[in-house]
Amino acid sequence: MDYREFFDKDIVSIRDFSRSQIESILDLSEEMVPYATGEKRNKMLDGKILGNLFFEPSTRTRLSFESAAHRLGADVIDVSQMSMTSISKGETLADTIRMVDTYCDAIVLRHPHEGAARLAAKFSKNPVINAGDGAGSHPTQTLLDLFTMRREKGSLDGLNIAMVGDLKYGRTVHSLVDALTMFGAKLTFVAPESLQMPDDIVSHLKSGGYNTKKTANLEDVISDADVLYVTRIQRERFPDPAEYSKVAGTYRIDNEMLREAKSDMIVMHPLPRIDEIAPEVDNTEHAKYFEQAFNGIPVRMALLCAIMGGEL
Ligand code: CP
Repeated sequence: MDYREFFDKDIVSIRDFSRSQIESILDLSEEMVPYATGEKRNKMLDGKILGNLFFEPSTRTRLSFESAAHRLGADVIDVSQMSMTSISKGETLADTIRMVDTYCDAIVLRHPHEGAARLAAKFSKNPVINAGDGAGSHPTQTLLDLFTMRREKGSLDGLNIAMVGDLKYGRTVHSLVDALTMFGAKLTFVAPESLQMPDDIVSHLKSGGYNTKKTANLEDVISDADVLYVTRIQRERFPDPAEYSKVAGTYRIDNEMLREAKSDMIVMHPLPRIDEIAPEVDNTEHAKYFEQAFNGIPVRMALLCAIMGGEL
């Protein structure tokens, strides 16, 4: 598989990728690292324009796409609030996408509604990248998560991964489980029952012959894990604030808890974190979440290169 096969393709769901396609993007991402740090320069996308449409808050995804585009020589046009677009006057998302499509060469879309990126891809001639659609999925986060695991653990095959926190509303874990099953990961879902991995996702995994475990007790799994993937409880997606209050602060990873972990176990988090990882963990060898956030740049450079016709 060659990354050039992604030319002009949408990036909507990780389910649209095969294992070899994922590996080709991760390989290209590795080559992008010296360009992502500025150590080497390549303006392969000079003359191209990226449209960044972020209709939900974002720090990492929006800025890393912007940084990735600039590093490769592309210009960026962007909107970071729906209220600043004609959507606030009643224009549909479909018409908005039709317009923005004519102003740029690829669109990155974050939207509060599940399915928005798939809809945008239908109305855009240029490629659309899903930067998170409600509680749906976040495929570019998945690619950078896999890139981080492969860099830190040497290989993705057969890792023992515990996912902790809000598995119901956390879109990053929804995308990640689909990808990890392609690499034979052993998955344990750690969450209170009300925030467990949605049944449709577990059923989808089962229908592919893939079994997962679930528990509410982090202590049951921490000593066997190769990767602890921690997520924030997604307060903004709870229909009832009282329900959020019942589960807020359920898990907090601290150094005391990490005493039970393997010495090379890594802690990841898509960020932002609230209180689910104590700051003292940042100074341990386990903490990889800031490296993970940086990895968004080479991975998004690889994606932009691949879909916008760059050459490395
Ligand atoms: N991980 C992630 O999507 O972060 P942002 O919401 O800051 O983009």
